Amino acid sequence: MNLPKLPLGVPLMDRDHAVLEHMFSTLPQTRDAELLPLFEAIAQEICDHFSREEIMMEREQVPILSCHKAQHAALLREVETMRAYLATADARVQRHQIGFVLAHLVANHVGGVDQVTSTFLTNRSAKSPPESDCAPQSACMAS
Ligand SMILES: [Fe+2]
Repeated sequence: MNLPKLPLGVPLMDRDHAVLEHMFSTLPQTRDAELLPLFEAIAQEICDHFSREEIMMEREQVPILSCHKAQHAALLREVETMRAYLATADARVQRHQIGFVLAHLVANHVGGVDQVTSTFLTNRSAKSPPESDCAPQSACMAS
């Protein structure tokens, strides 16, 4: 698995963040006419990633779930605002919005609430006793 710039130690997050980083990295080679399709592909990936992350956080009962989901919703609203703005912007502005504004929104999210969430998840799994410690005593006393 390719690791993102800021690995968080949660496979779903790291895998999805690496995919998004790769998509942003294609911007310099993207022709002007392909900028809006690239934006749409990134926007879809962000939306899909947030859905996967929210399912995982609900399953893992992450305590800051409602705050994290609110930040997802806020970022998706920014994406919607950006979509309308990009429709009438020239290629120079489109490149700036995708490669700087949107990329920083995602990076700030990863370094903020995603990192807090990953700390909770990794600390909790570190506190869980290893499988061998959970073996029923009767198995040890069988002989
Ligand atoms: Fe997130």
